Amino acid sequence: MLFRMLLGVTASVGLLAAQNVQNQALTGEAARSAEIAQKNPFASEADVQQGGVLFQVQCAVCHGARGEGGRGADLTVGIYRMGGSDPELFRTIRSGIPGSEMPASRFADDDIWKVAGFVQRLGSRGMAEKAPGDAAAGKELYAKNGCAGCHRIGDQGLDLGPDLTNVGRRRGLVFLEESLVKPNAIVANNFRAVQLVTKSGQNVSGIRLNEDDLSIQVRDMSGNLRSVMKDGLKEVKRDKPSLMPSYERLSKTDLANLVAYLNSLKGE
Ligand code: HEC
Ligand code: HEC
Repeated sequence: MLFRMLLGVTASVGLLAAQNVQNQALTGEAARSAEIAQKNPFASEADVQQGGVLFQVQCAVCHGARGEGGRGADLTVGIYRMGGSDPELFRTIRSGIPGSEMPASRFADDDIWKVAGFVQRLGSRGMAEKAPGDAAAGKELYAKNGCAGCHRIGDQGLDLGPDLTNVGRRRGLVFLEESLVKPNAIVANNFRAVQLVTKSGQNVSGIRLNEDDLSIQVRDMSGNLRSVMKDGLKEVKRDKPSLMPSYERLSKTDLANLVAYLNSLKGE
């Protein structure tokens, strides 16, 4: 029923998107209040439906057309790291989650409430996708393939890749699988691979944490932080975006098991 509703409204997305842009132009920041209501003031059935349309426009690219997750979290699970009450969801959507790819929304407050209502609807239907693999077998593959040489889970492992302690909460199944077979497809800004060659012929490989006109900060392959002045460099090679090797060579079953294990990592 929810899915039919989504399909039904997709046709009008273009129109509403255009209207919304106009609304924003008219109302701008003025439509944003400092006080956040304790209860969603836009929770009628029509509001939630409109929220669904807005969701397709600004959120589905990352969270999937049905909220099933991808680059963004699976929103059908109904569990929220930043809280699931009306005002908490409102705040998450309006301000984004600092330090993650979850952006602040440019919607006016009314529209944010409508989307929040739709997100809650997604989370209350029990439609969460089950990972088909075997998480226990995946855990063994994780150990066998040296993933901990770059990733941290809890207090185990290194920081050359993203911390995976709660990756099952942050990312959907499709994204997790893609991370393993096509690591270069989406690489977070502070995890890009670089190789520095100094004027004296020294080589430093690792991930680029930060960079400005004068210097570049790198975590080298042993996990050490290094800050290097650019005027001492002969070359900065950035030809391979991700440090992570592709695990395409693993069997379908092994990949499914690894994905199931990653999906089971929900943090504290
Ligand atoms: C560029 C990709 C991207 C877009 C666009 C995006 N999100 Fe997210 N969203 C994410 C990611 C990644 C996370 C997980 C962040 C984390 O927990 O570290 C997330 C998390 C969330 C969460 C869960 C927060 C929690 O407390 O666990 C909600 C709710 C959410 N997004 C709603 C939305 C809505 C609604 C929109 C559209 C207005 C949207 N997102 C647009 C990437 C995105
Ligand atoms: C040589 C270091 C290295 C190894 C080994 C490695 N990774 Fe990665 N991984 C990275 C880096 C760097 C990133 C971030 C850039 C990217 O997305 O490709 C990453 C990204 C990821 C992501 C996406 C996380 C997110 O939040 O975006 C997942 C999931 C992942 N790795 C799982 C694994 C698993 C499972 C293994 C073992 C089978 C593994 N990695 C082995 C370096 C590594």
